[in-house]
Amino acid sequence: MISATLFFVVLPQERVRPFLLYTLHLKYDAVLRVKRIIFFAHCFSEFSHFTDKLYIVLLSKMIDISTTLRHKHRFFFHVAVLLFFARSVLVDLFQKCIEFTRADEVKALDMYPYFRAVQENEGPLVMMEGRKVVMAGSNNYLGLTGHPRVREAAKRAIDKYGTSCSGSRYLTGTIDLHNELEARFAKFLGYESVLLYSTGYQTALGAISGLVQRGDYIISDKENHACIVNGALLAKGATADFVRYKHNDMVDLERVLAKIPDTAGKLIVTDGVFSVTGSIVNLPDLIAVAKKYGARVLVDDAHATGIIGKGGRGTASHYGLEADMTMGTFSKTFASLGGFIGGPERVINYLKHNSPALIFSASPTPASCAAALEALTILEEQPELIDQLVANANYARKGLREKGFYVLDGQTGIVPVIVGSLENALMYWRQLYDRDVFVNAFVPPGVPPNMSMMRTSYMASHEKVHLDRIIEAFDEVGNALGFRGATTNGQAVAVEH
Ligand SMILES: Cc1ncc(COP(=O)(O)O)c(C=O)c1O
Repeated sequence: MISATLFFVVLPQERVRPFLLYTLHLKYDAVLRVKRIIFFAHCFSEFSHFTDKLYIVLLSKMIDISTTLRHKHRFFFHVAVLLFFARSVLVDLFQKCIEFTRADEVKALDMYPYFRAVQENEGPLVMMEGRKVVMAGSNNYLGLTGHPRVREAAKRAIDKYGTSCSGSRYLTGTIDLHNELEARFAKFLGYESVLLYSTGYQTALGAISGLVQRGDYIISDKENHACIVNGALLAKGATADFVRYKHNDMVDLERVLAKIPDTAGKLIVTDGVFSVTGSIVNLPDLIAVAKKYGARVLVDDAHATGIIGKGGRGTASHYGLEADMTMGTFSKTFASLGGFIGGPERVINYLKHNSPALIFSASPTPASCAAALEALTILEEQPELIDQLVANANYARKGLREKGFYVLDGQTGIVPVIVGSLENALMYWRQLYDRDVFVNAFVPPGVPPNMSMMRTSYMASHEKVHLDRIIEAFDEVGNALGFRGATTNGQAVAVEH
C-alpha cells in the first residue's frame, strides 16, 4: 500500500497517474485499496494543475461506477475509460517550454548574466546599458575586432562582393576570398589543404560526421566542446560509434582504444586548449597512443590558433608535433566569423564532396573572409601581440591570486576564477557587473557542480588600467560578499584580513 502510494506520488508525469491507477484497479479489482491510494496521494503530492485534480476526482467516480455495472458491461466500460485516460497521457510538445521558468526566476532577481547586449565595442571597453564596462569575457584575444585595417578590409569586401554569397560553396557561394583564405591558412598551419565552413561549430559537425562511417569510432575527451560532442552524435545517429575517455587522461584513452576492434576506423577528437579551463591537451602522449592503435587525430584549436605555438600556429606547433587534422574558428583570434579544418589534400577533397554541413549551408560572407585574412596578416606581421595577450593574462592571474582567489593555472588568455555554487556565480557576476566589469558566468551543467566560475579572458589590447580595474573589482566583491569563491573541491575560500 505504502509503496503503491509512493509510486504514485513520485511518478514524474502527473498526467500518467490516473491512467496507471485505473490499470492497477483493473488488475487487482481492489476498489477500496485504490481509493485509499488516491486519498494518500492527494495528501502527499502537489497537484499543481486544476486538470490533474479533475482527473483524480474523475478517476474515483469511474471506479465507483465500474463496481455497480454488470460483469458483461464492465469490459466495455473499462476500455472506454482507459482510452479516455490514454488520451490525457499525450503531452503537448511545447509543454516543457511553458514549464521552463528557471531563467525567468533569475531574471526577476536581476542576476541573469546572459544575452546582455553590447551597444558599442571598443575592445577592452564596451558600452552596455548606457555604461562603459571593462570587458573581461571576450574571445577577441588579440583585440583585432576593432583594428582599423581589419574594419577597412571588411568594408572593402562588402563594396566588391556585397553582403552575402547567397549560396553554398558547392554551388554559387564560392568567391576568390574563400580560396585565398584557404590557401593562406593551409600555408600558415602547414597543411596540404584547408576547407572553410561558416562557423567553427559547423566545422566540427561537418568534419566529424563527414569523416566517420558505419563501423568507425569517434573517441572524444569528456571535456571537449559541445560542437565535438554534437558532431559525434550526428555521426553516431547515422553511422559510427561514439566513446569518451576521461579528461586529458591518456591511460584511459588507451583503455578505450584497446577495446575497439583493430579493423574499425578510429578518430580521436580533442580540444587543443580546453575552452572552459584553458588547459592544454597532452598531445605528445595522445599522438603516441593514437599511433599505437592506428587512430587518426583531430585537434580543435578554437582557443589555440593565434595564441599558442610558433607564431600562433596552435597546439601541435606548441609541442613541435604534427596532428593529422586541426580545426578552428575565425570568431576568436581572427576577429571574424567562420571555421576551418586543415589536413591532407585527399581528406579535405573528400569532405568537400561528402559533408552536408558544407554542401547545404551558405558560405562565409565576404566581409567575414576579408576580416579573417587581414587579421592573419596582422598576426604574421606582429606575433608580439601573442606575447602581450599572455602577459596580460598572467598579470590578471597573478593579481587575482594575490587577492586570495582560487585561479586555475594556464598559459593562454583564459583565466578561470572558481566561485563554487551556481548561486555564488550569479552573485559574483551581478556584483562585478555593478562595478562595471563584465565576465562570463560558467555554471552547471556547463561545468561540474561546485565548479561554477567567473571565466575571465583577456585581450592583447587590455591596458594595465583595465586589468587593475578587473582585479580591484574582484577584490571589492569578495569583501562585499564575505568570501573569495571556492576551491575545485568545493571548499569556501575565505577573505583574508
Ligand atoms: C573549442 C571550441 N570549438 C568550437 C567553437 C565554435 O566556434 P564558432 O564560434 O566559430 O562556432 C568554440 C566556440 O566557443 C570552441 O570553444
